[in-house]
Amino acid sequence: MRFYPLEKLINLHDDYARQFKIDNLYLLLIQREGERYLLEGRCPHRGHPLDVATFSEGVLECALHHYRFAMADGRLLHATEEPCRGLRSYDVVYQGNELGLMLEEELEQ
Ligand code: FES
Repeated sequence: MRFYPLEKLINLHDDYARQFKIDNLYLLLIQREGERYLLEGRCPHRGHPLDVATFSEGVLECALHHYRFAMADGRLLHATEEPCRGLRSYDVVYQGNELGLMLEEELEQ
């Protein structure tokens, strides 16, 4: 496993939402009400970027078809068309003044 840094702690605030790409892996880092969440960055329904989703009361709503997911663990809460899986959720890891995640050295494609 290897640490992949994403963001400096000093840059985080409660309206923070930013997408990152590591190889073919899209990640979404969010901070709301002091809580930090690291989720899959593309909607599993049709692949819409989730950094432009709306975030409210622990719920992420995709801007394209309004599927809703729990920010805490990525589970699907509401689907407006066909069902789909939830978002992958990743553990946030802190190293020094940075936040990131641990991934296998060779990412799965
Ligand atoms: S692409 Fe996100 S809900 Fe359809």
